[in-house]
Amino acid sequence: MSKRVAILISGGGSNMVTLVNSMTGDHPARPVLVISNVPDAGGLAKAEALGVPTAVVDHKAFGKDREAFEAELDRVLAAADPDIVCLAGFMRILTPEFTRKWEGKTLNIHPSLLPKYKGLHTHERAIEAGDTEHGCSVHEVTAELDGGPILGQAMIAIRPDDTAESLAARLLEWEHKLYPEVLRRFALGDKTPIRLGV
Ligand code: GRF
Repeated sequence: MSKRVAILISGGGSNMVTLVNSMTGDHPARPVLVISNVPDAGGLAKAEALGVPTAVVDHKAFGKDREAFEAELDRVLAAADPDIVCLAGFMRILTPEFTRKWEGKTLNIHPSLLPKYKGLHTHERAIEAGDTEHGCSVHEVTAELDGGPILGQAMIAIRPDDTAESLAARLLEWEHKLYPEVLRRFALGDKTPIRLGV
């Protein structure tokens, strides 16, 4: 029986597209829903073009009531009955109450070599720190922001002429390699961390 995968996005959804495209043939999982917190996220049209059902839970509709937003997100998510939830370019910070409910089923991709550079602007911070290497991490989502067990990392070199934009673009190519590989293993119950890249 295939594992049911829901994917949460906020923007272009390039990681979502690679995850959806990876779940074919003898892959142990299949996408069942793509949810965006942004009504006009470009990823929604991409998901629909790939034949994956979509939903929108617009966080702005709930104002500052984070609990109400998450209650609706939880309702929509639960209705899809996912075995696995993939955060893929999902830009909302989830409360510990929400993450605890879905803990053990939820993955996220973060564009840094965790535990370095949790939070935002990771590419700029790595360049400004004079790092020679950068990367991305797929981790289990827990109550600690960008802090759950790491299931995979991909490492790339930072080039002297790199800007945050050029680094992000090169890293994204590795995100698209890493996340599907981690998801496939996770769907098989394999949590052995993997390492890709240089
Ligand atoms: C990616 O760099 C991802 O690591 C970060 O959001 C960026 C855009 O992701 N969380 P996507 O193209 O929307 O998947």
